Amino acid sequence: MALTEVDHVAIAVRDLDAAIAWYAEAFGATVAHREVVERDGVEEALVAVADSYVQLLCPTRDASPVARFLQSRGEGLHHVGYRVDDCAAALRRAVAAGARPIDEEPRPGSRGTTVAFLHPKAAFGTLIELVEEGPADGGPGS
Ligand code: CO
Repeated sequence: MALTEVDHVAIAVRDLDAAIAWYAEAFGATVAHREVVERDGVEEALVAVADSYVQLLCPTRDASPVARFLQSRGEGLHHVGYRVDDCAAALRRAVAAGARPIDEEPRPGSRGTTVAFLHPKAAFGTLIELVEEGPADGGPGS
């Protein structure tokens, strides 16, 4: 089994602070990590749930993929992140099985992770992110 954990469930929201406040009020949730990922045009807030996260995701610019998602689909479930031990190997295996890669090679994600996305059209309508803890290529601390 290539997937070791549900790393996160990502929910696209229009107002990150409002979403954080609602999760706090409704569930007593606190934010474990907050980060602007400039490359993806998003700001994210991670709420820890056991060994996984709920990732609240908000666009930082109008042309970003998450901004376009909000315009066409509205707020809601955006993608599921599956934790893997080896992002490159998991990506190769999924593509061999017919998955359509959005990232041809693993790339840096938030929290210093290494990630690759798979297109929802070839994955039962779900945008999938493969998440490996630590930087790619076996750097120090990975
Ligand atoms: Co994600």
